[in-house]
Amino acid sequence: MQSIDESTPFFDLVGSVRAMRKLKPDPVPIEMIWKVLNVGVQAPSGQNKQPWKFLLIQDPERKQWFAERYANAMQERFGLPVDPAKRGDKTPKGTLASIYHQMDHMAEAPYLLLVCGKRDWPFKVAEKDRVGLAPPNYGAVYPCVQNILLACRTLGLGAALTTMHQVFEDELHAHFGIPDTYGVVVTIPIGYPIGRFGPVTRIPAQEKTFLDHWDAGDS
Ligand SMILES: Cc1cc2nc3c(=O)[nH]c(=O)nc-3n(C[C@H](O)[C@H](O)[C@H](O)COP(=O)(O)O)c2cc1C
Repeated sequence: MQSIDESTPFFDLVGSVRAMRKLKPDPVPIEMIWKVLNVGVQAPSGQNKQPWKFLLIQDPERKQWFAERYANAMQERFGLPVDPAKRGDKTPKGTLASIYHQMDHMAEAPYLLLVCGKRDWPFKVAEKDRVGLAPPNYGAVYPCVQNILLACRTLGLGAALTTMHQVFEDELHAHFGIPDTYGVVVTIPIGYPIGRFGPVTRIPAQEKTFLDHWDAGDS
């Protein structure tokens, strides 16, 4: 794999942005994060409303608070004990092993970046059906998130999307003072990576594309 830096052509960069879940605890200068976030905010959004906000957690106690709830949510979802010593022969392999590594070491990541989106009803939801909280503006937040991942990769930072915070989002709002007008869309632990970046594995676009009409029988 060729080395990647700020001069790397886009087509080489984009195929190497893998979920990097194993991170070193080594400090990352905040200037790098500003650089990353300022790439994030170059993303497009409807009417250029830029409905994203970031909560950057760097304080060790606050990271620990997040990590504990994240681990409990993972236990609820996957049933594997929070305590690695109690996992026995259920110790996960492959991608799941890296997901668990990320969970076990979440508080050690230099930064936990919460990308939040302003809540906004999609046009197609009728006024009468607008009950409770609107969803965060996913359509605008995800391009911003992808820009963040591309920028991390370019600067040699490891980053990976996580969404398990949804399980304890009410607590998250209360603990960090996040108003209900925003939803937390993703949490991205960021730090220098342990291990290699490597290319992504994806199905070629030709196998995902129909010309002029959807193929009968494909669903
Ligand atoms: C909407 C969305 C939600 C995701 N949620 C999680 C998550 O909760 N935990 C996680 O470890 N990865 C999560 N991911 C990352 C994917 O698992 C990852 O991008 C995918 O498996 C491809 O792996 P690669 O990036 O290493 O090629 C999410 C990605 C997306 C786009």
